[in-house]
Amino acid sequence: MADDAIRALAARLRSAGRVTVLTGAGVSAASGVPTFRGADGLWRRFRAETLATPEAFAKDPQLVWEWYGWRRELIAACEPNPAHRVLAAWTARHEGWRVVTQNVDDLHLVAGTRDLIRLHGSIWEFCCWDGCDGRPGRWTDTCLPLPAPTPRCIHCGGLARPAVVWFGESLDPGDTRRASAASSCDVFIATGTSAVVYPAAGFIGEARARGAFSVEINTEATPTSSLVDLTIHGRAEEVFPAVDALLLNAAC
Ligand code: OAD
Repeated sequence: MADDAIRALAARLRSAGRVTVLTGAGVSAASGVPTFRGADGLWRRFRAETLATPEAFAKDPQLVWEWYGWRRELIAACEPNPAHRVLAAWTARHEGWRVVTQNVDDLHLVAGTRDLIRLHGSIWEFCCWDGCDGRPGRWTDTCLPLPAPTPRCIHCGGLARPAVVWFGESLDPGDTRRASAASSCDVFIATGTSAVVYPAAGFIGEARARGAFSVEINTEATPTSSLVDLTIHGRAEEVFPAVDALLLNAAC
């Protein structure tokens, strides 16, 4: 691991009031949740168009639910790793430190992260496929296996769908607004994300434009690597505890 870079990040964080960490699938990799891209990524084995689009669901809801049912069982067996735990501790210790995630596994929540912004929703929530006006519009369902091969809307009895963002869909405007507001910060860290899916991939540029010191923590280079102020080549589950140890030592 790049010790100089880790020390440089810790130094920046020591004087930072507002810190935003954008996380992607790589942060959950050490917990056993597969990433989407890369050698073992889900999109190598499955076609996103047949599983993660509204068109795919309209055509074959049972197939899409089977895929989400499989992923729910896989995620249910996973626990937060040291990266999730350090980030949760940061949100508890520092008022202006936020986590924005693209992950739908909720491992940040299990770790205790406060005020988490979930840009792509949660695999543990359902909503009505027809968009009926029953409230709440999304509800938690942690049944394993799924409550039915094609779960139903608790309000209208029609088809329910996973409350996640699919390709071709817009993000929740409130989440986008909060994430955009969080981009106004002293230090912005993007970690475990291939930085190819927008709007999430654009937040680091937004943060830089507003004066943030920008950092990438990733095991590989991404389109963002050449744009940031500091690149840390390493695993999130090792880098965050190393940075945190420096922060805690300085606090003694
Ligand atoms: P990706 O699977 O595209 O990228 C994962 C990134 O994590 C890669 O850049 C890896 O190099 C890096 N990585 C892997 N292990 C790591 C580790 N231990 N520590 C640090 N980095 C590591 O995941 P996302 O960028 O999150 O969207 O994908 C974005 C969106 O694309 C997902 O939310 C999902 C997907 O299609 C939807 O389903 C809408």
